[in-house]
Amino acid sequence: MHLSQLDIFQVRNLKSIRTSCHPQANIIYGANGSGKTSFLESIYLLGRGRSFRHRDLRVVVNNDADELVVSGRLLRDQTSTAHQLGIKRTPKGLFEARLDGKPLQTAAQLVSELPLQLIDAHSFMLLEGGPLQRRQFLDWGVFHVEHDYTNLWRRFQKTLKQRNQLLRHGRIDEDLLRTWTAELIPLCEQITRFRREYLSALSGQLNQAVSAFEGLGQVSLEYYCGWDEERSLADVYAADHGRDIGTKTTSHGAHRADIRIKVDGQTAADHLSRGQIKLLVYALKLAQAAHYREHAGESCLFLLDDLPAELDYQHRGQVVSYLNDLGCQYFITGVDKKDFEDLVQTVPHQMFHMEHGVALVD
Ligand SMILES: Nc1ncnc2c1ncn2[C@@H]1O[C@H](COP(=O)(O)OP(=O)(O)OP(=O)(O)O)[C@@H](O)[C@H]1O
Ligand SMILES: [Mg+2]
Repeated sequence: MHLSQLDIFQVRNLKSIRTSCHPQANIIYGANGSGKTSFLESIYLLGRGRSFRHRDLRVVVNNDADELVVSGRLLRDQTSTAHQLGIKRTPKGLFEARLDGKPLQTAAQLVSELPLQLIDAHSFMLLEGGPLQRRQFLDWGVFHVEHDYTNLWRRFQKTLKQRNQLLRHGRIDEDLLRTWTAELIPLCEQITRFRREYLSALSGQLNQAVSAFEGLGQVSLEYYCGWDEERSLADVYAADHGRDIGTKTTSHGAHRADIRIKVDGQTAADHLSRGQIKLLVYALKLAQAAHYREHAGESCLFLLDDLPAELDYQHRGQVVSYLNDLGCQYFITGVDKKDFEDLVQTVPHQMFHMEHGVALVD
């Protein structure tokens, strides 16, 4: 899958960009503040329905405008069919998405149309940050593999919310608490099964990706499901009864899951250098892309913000050649054109020079 055409209107300092995109490498270089990350942010908006920089899209709309629009022409690898995907944030603050002119109801529909991976200066948080980041990473993968996952996930979120709302009440209705608990248990268990299966399938892909990069060691992924697995979840909730009422929240369950990422048997975040951590994040995301391709028969799109600042010369080359082997389309930004000298000699590409929000094809 790749974007063959991209139109951006009023995203930050990008007032109007209409351009074709290369199916393989797209390089965007330009000075600080010229609009490179905004270019990637626009594609991310199209594929995720949100920004990776700010929760509030008001900040993302150009200061002199009252709405933003991004649209793209998508070409599927397998069928070569083309689709027009578009998103808009209206002056009234509504978010609208369309596929071939028909409205899409949820962000999940956008995500399944345009599977994309972002790696930017904050990506090290996948290892160094809290478990939420790793659950989101995991759920991206499960979502693209298990078609029922969105429904399951929504039911789980709703039930958990109802149980937590009840726990926040001064006087607990014990019958109702039993009902929500009984509903929550099979949902947690199903989510756990899906996530565990996905993670075990991903491990093979991860080993391959890691071996393509020098100096990472033996990486392993261990899933923590969110409770003590030696006991049934029903027993855990029975034992947690007083604690959950005291803390007014559900202490255990799929919402507390995590992935323990180890290198040579030691916690990766504690033992690797920052550069090695970034490299491992690349390996994890490339492994996801490889798994997605194997499963869906499609490649996903990569957004790599300021790649030259993230990795050394040798590892940059290894990442790019992995992306090429996977048949991924990628958009790479950087300040200096000369950082891409080797890439442009070996890889079919399109290069953009970004200047004050205008993307000139180089
Ligand atoms: N809502 C907005 N309206 C207009 N301009 C904005 C808005 N939000 C941010 N900007 C400006 O857009 C410009 C582009 O920002 P962006 O982060 O895309 O630059 P960049 O090329 O990635 O820079 P760097 O190399 O420093 O990362 C900045 O000058 C920023 O001040
Ligand atoms: Mg930037």
